Amino acid sequence: MNLFRRAAVGAATLAIGGLLATATPSAAAPSPTLAAPDIPLANVKAHLSQLQSIASANGGNRAHGRAGYKASIDYVKGKLDAAGFTTRIQQFTSSGATGYNLIADWPGGDADQVLMAGAHLDSVASGAGINDNGSGSAGVLETALAVSRAQLQPTKHLRFAWWGAEELGMVGSRYYVNNLPAADRSKVSGYLNFDMIGSPNPGYFVYDDDPTIEKTFKDYYTGIGVPTEIETEGDGRSDHAPFKNVGIPVGGLFTGAERAKSSAQAQKWGGTAGQAFDRCYHSSCDTTSNINDTALDRNSDAIAHAVWTLGAGTTVPPGDVYENTADVAIPDNGAAVTSTVNVAGRTGNAPATLKVDVDVRHTWRGDVVLDLVAPDGTAYRLKNSSSNDSADNVIATYTVNASSEPANGAWKLRAQDVASQDTGYINSWKLTF
Ligand code: TRP
Ligand code: ZN
Ligand code: CA
Repeated sequence: MNLFRRAAVGAATLAIGGLLATATPSAAAPSPTLAAPDIPLANVKAHLSQLQSIASANGGNRAHGRAGYKASIDYVKGKLDAAGFTTRIQQFTSSGATGYNLIADWPGGDADQVLMAGAHLDSVASGAGINDNGSGSAGVLETALAVSRAQLQPTKHLRFAWWGAEELGMVGSRYYVNNLPAADRSKVSGYLNFDMIGSPNPGYFVYDDDPTIEKTFKDYYTGIGVPTEIETEGDGRSDHAPFKNVGIPVGGLFTGAERAKSSAQAQKWGGTAGQAFDRCYHSSCDTTSNINDTALDRNSDAIAHAVWTLGAGTTVPPGDVYENTADVAIPDNGAAVTSTVNVAGRTGNAPATLKVDVDVRHTWRGDVVLDLVAPDGTAYRLKNSSSNDSADNVIATYTVNASSEPANGAWKLRAQDVASQDTGYINSWKLTF
C-alpha cells in the first residue's frame, strides 16, 4: 500500500476506513534551499547587443532625455512582462527632460521583507554605455528572467529596478527612494547594486557595506576561487547611495572604472597593470567590444547567487506528486467519505493549474459527486452527479485553480454517492504540484 510520494518529512497519518495508519514517504523531502542557476553568458550578451543596437539607432547613446533611453526601458520592460513580472514605469523630471525608472516585482514572497536588485540603465551622452551600465542592467535582467524560469518561490518578495539619470547624479534612484512611503521603506531588507560589472581589464570589487550582503558576494567568489577586493573607487558613486542614506542595507559588485590596475592586481586577476580597468569609461568606445566576458559571466552568476541566497529561495521543482492509494468505500446513497494526502515542505500557494488525478471505481458513476477539499475546508467541485450517466468508474484528470490556497496541509478527495443501488470506492487519487 503506497501512500505518499514526495510527501511530508517524517511519518504522516492517514485515516483509512476509520482506522489510523502511519505512512512513510517513499522519497526524501526536497532540500530546503535551492542553489542559484548558472546565468547563461550568451543571454546576458544578447541583451548587450540589443542595447548597442538601440544606441546605434538613436544617435549613439542611451542617455537621459534621449530616445535611446526610453527604447532601452521598453526593451527591458518587454522581457519582464513576458516573463510574468508586474512592471511599472516611474516618471520624473530632471534637467528639463522626462526620466524613467522601471520597477519589476516578482509576485509572491513576504511583502514585509523586500529584497531589491538594481542597475542604472542610462548611458552618458558620449557613448552607448555598454559596460557603464548595460552590463549591470543585463546581468540584473537575466537574473530576473532566471527567477521566472525557475518559478522561484522565495521567502522574501523580490523587486528588480532599472534606474534613469544615474549619470546626472543618481537622480532616478533618489527619486524612487524619496517617493517610497516610510512604511514601504522599512520593508526593504536590502538593495543590491550593479554598476559596471564587465570592465575590459577587470578587477573584482565587492562593496564594503552591509556585512551579510558583502559576505554573500564573497562566498560566491570564494566558491569559484577568485580573490576579491573591497571597492574603493568611490563610495556613494552609484544608485546604492540613496538607499544607504536612508538606512537600507546595501551591497554590490564593480569591476573598475577609470582608475589603473596595479601590478599586484594584475598578478592576482590577470589583465594589464598600469592600465585603467575601463579605458572607455564614459567615452564613445564603451561598446559591445568594451566587455570582458569572464567578468560579466562571473558577476552575473554572483547576482543570481545573491538573489537566491538573500531571497532565501526555498522551493521544490514543479511536478511533485502527492498520492493516496488506499481504498475508501463509498456507501450507497450515503454520507460523503474522504481520502487525504498531506502536502508539506512547499512554499507559497498551490498552483493555478493544480492537477487532480482521480481513480474511483463504481458500477454507475452518475451516482457519484466529487470534490477536492483544500486544507482550509474550501471545496472545489470536480464532478456533479447525473442520473443518466450509467458508465463505470471515474478515471479522470481535473485541473483546479488552487492559487488562493496555501500548498501545505491536508488535502482531501471527497466522494459521495447520491442515489441507491450501485456502489463503489475510491481506488486512488493524486495531486500534482
Ligand atoms: N557610474 C559610476 C560613476 O560614474 C561608475 C562608478 C565609478 C562606480 N566608481 C564607482 C560605481 C564605484 C560603483 C562604485 O560614478
Ligand atoms: Zn554607471
Ligand atoms: Ca448508488
